[in-house]
Amino acid sequence: MTTTTASTPAVTEDDEPTRPKDTGDPFDQDVLPTPPGATAALLRSLLAPMKARTGLTVLLLLLQQAAVQAGPLLVAYAIDRAVPAFRDGRDGPLVAVGAGYLLCALASGALQFAFIEASARVSQDVLLDLRGRIFRHAQALSVDFHERYTSGRLISRSTTDVESLRELLEEGLQELVTVVLSFVYISAMLLWLDLGLGAVAVASFVPLYLLVRLYQRRAGRVYRARSTAIAAVIVKFVETMNGIRPVRAFRREAANESEFAVLNQRHERTNGDALLEMARYVVGSRLVANTAVAGIVLWGAHRVASGSLELGVLAAAVLYLRRLYDPIDRLGMFLNSYQSAAASLEKIAGLLAQTPSVPEPARPRELPAPKGGFPGREVVFDGVRFAYRTGGEVLPRFDLTLPAGQTVAVVGTTGAGKSTLAKLLARFYDPSEGRVLLDGTDLRELSVPELRRGVVMVTQEAFLFSGTVADNIAIGRPDATREEIEQAAKAIGAHEFISALPDGYDTDVRKRGGRISAGQRQLVAFARALLADPAVLILDEATSSLDVPGERAVQRAMATVLRGRTAVVIAHRLSTVEIADRVLVMEHGRIVEDGHPDELIAGTGRFADLHKAWRDSLA
Ligand SMILES: Nc1ncnc2c1ncn2[C@@H]1O[C@H](COP(=O)(O)OP(=O)(O)OP(=O)(O)O)[C@@H](O)[C@H]1O
Ligand SMILES: [Mg+2]
Repeated sequence: MTTTTASTPAVTEDDEPTRPKDTGDPFDQDVLPTPPGATAALLRSLLAPMKARTGLTVLLLLLQQAAVQAGPLLVAYAIDRAVPAFRDGRDGPLVAVGAGYLLCALASGALQFAFIEASARVSQDVLLDLRGRIFRHAQALSVDFHERYTSGRLISRSTTDVESLRELLEEGLQELVTVVLSFVYISAMLLWLDLGLGAVAVASFVPLYLLVRLYQRRAGRVYRARSTAIAAVIVKFVETMNGIRPVRAFRREAANESEFAVLNQRHERTNGDALLEMARYVVGSRLVANTAVAGIVLWGAHRVASGSLELGVLAAAVLYLRRLYDPIDRLGMFLNSYQSAAASLEKIAGLLAQTPSVPEPARPRELPAPKGGFPGREVVFDGVRFAYRTGGEVLPRFDLTLPAGQTVAVVGTTGAGKSTLAKLLARFYDPSEGRVLLDGTDLRELSVPELRRGVVMVTQEAFLFSGTVADNIAIGRPDATREEIEQAAKAIGAHEFISALPDGYDTDVRKRGGRISAGQRQLVAFARALLADPAVLILDEATSSLDVPGERAVQRAMATVLRGRTAVVIAHRLSTVEIADRVLVMEHGRIVEDGHPDELIAGTGRFADLHKAWRDSLA
C-alpha cells in the first residue's frame, strides 16, 4: 500500500487493511513526539478546576484514617487499664472502650462513604473533560494527521487510556493516600507507645522502600509494553473491520487471523509479565513484613516477661504492624495503576500536543458579497507547490485562474494530481509554497464559516452519517426547512428513490431497510451540496458510482447545481466533460492542455485522443 487519501474509493487495493510493519513514521507509534512537561501540564490543567473538591476528599480520608487507626489504641487501653479496673469492680472504663470502638467504626464507615462519593465525582468530571478534549482535538486536527494516525489509535486513546486514568483516580489515589496516611499514623502511634518497637517497625521501611523502587522500575517497563500491546490489538481490530470489504474481496481472513493471533499473544505475554512482577513484589514485601513482625513478637515477649513492657502495648503493636503491612500489597496495586495511567497520559498528552497543520487564521477575514449577482467566485492558484509529508512533490509549480462561474473539467492519468488540486482548493492541506485565492483572499485567512460557505467538495465516497436521509441532506445547511431539503432532492432527481424508502425522508440510513446504494448515496451527497449553495463546488469522481441512465439524470441536475458557481469537475468519464466550459488535462502535476472542450476535441492533443477512444468505446 502506498497512499491512502481522504477520498479513497470504498473498495480498492488501496483499502488493503494490512499496514507496513514499521515505516519509521512517528505517527505509526502510539507515543507521538511530545514537548517536555506536556504530560504534567495536562494533569495540572485537568485537576486545576477541582482544587477545592480534591482538598475536601483528602480531608475526608484523613478523618477516616484517624477513626480507623484508633482501634488498636483502644485495645491496648482495654487490656492494660479497663480489664484490671473491671476486675476491681469498676465497669465504666470497659463500657467507654466498647462505645468508643463502636463510634470509631461508625464514623469510619460514614467518612469512607462520603469519601468514595466525593472522589468519584472528581474523577468523573476529570474524565468527562478529558474525553471531550480528545474528541474536540482529534476532530480539529488536519486531514494529513488522520491519514497517518489511524482511527484505531484514536479509539484506544479515548477508551483504554482514559480508562486507565480512571482506575488511577478512583482506586489508585485512594490506595496511595490510605497507605501513606496509615504509615504516618501507625509509625507515630508505635513510637509513642514504645520507642524501641516503633524504631524496629520504622527500620523495616528501608527494605520495603527499596523493594517498591525496584518494582516500580521493572513494572514501568512491563506496563508500557502491555499498553502498547493492547493498542496494537485494537488498531488491528478496527482496521480489519473498517476494511471488511477488501478483506472479503481478497480473501484476507486467514492471513488477518494469524496476524491478529500474533498481536493477541503478545498482549497475553505482556499481561503475564505484569502479573509476574506483581507476584514477586507481593511475596517480597510479605517476607519483609513477616520477618519484622516475628522479630517484634520475640523481642516484645522477652520484655513483657522481664516486666519492661505491658502486654496491652505489645498486643497493640502487633495489631498495628499487621495494619501497617497489609496496605503494602495495595501499594503495589497503586503503583500498577500509576504506571499504566502515566503511560496512557503520556500518549494522550502527545495527541493533544499536536497542532493542526492547517491552522485557523489568527485574524479571520470575511469575503465581500460575490460580484455579478451569482454565487460563483474567482479561484486563483498562485505559484502553488505542494508535496505530501511522505513522498515527493506532487504539484511542482502550479498557476491557474478560474474566473467566477466557470465550470472546469479536469482530466488526466491516474496519480496526475487532480485530487490533490481539489483538496488544496478545499483547504484540506495548505500549499508548501504559494497561495490559493478565493476572490483575491488567501484561503489561509478565511474564517471557518466563510470557507465552509465558500468551497464544497463532493467525493466518490459520499459518506453518510448516522441519522435520517433528511438529516444527511441538511448537513449542507443545518437551518434548512424540510421544504428546502425536498426541493434540493427534487432538483437532483433523488426525490423518487427517497420517497420509495420505508420512511421516506425520515428513513434511518444505518437501519435495516434504510440501506441505500452507492449511486443513491451520491445523489444524497449532491443534494447536500446543492443545499449548501457554495461559491465553488468541487466534484471529484462524484458521478462514478452512477449507472448510465442515472448519470444522464445527474448530468441534467448537475447543470442546475453548477449554474452560476465556479466548479471543478474531476471525472474519468468523458460524458461529464460535455457540460464544461473549459477542460484542463493534467499530467505529473502540470497542466498540459487547457481549452474549450470543442476546441480540444477538434485539435490533435491528448484530450482529442482520449475523446476519440471514448467515442469509439460507445459505438
Ligand atoms: N495522502 C497522501 N499522502 C502521500 N501521497 C499522496 C497522498 N495522496 C496522494 N498522494 C500522491 O500524490 C500523487 C497525486 O495523487 P492524486 O490523488 O492527486 O492523483 P489523481 O490525479 O487524483 O489520481 P486519480 O485519477 O487516480 O484519482 C500520487 O502520486 C499519489 O501517490
Ligand atoms: Mg483522484
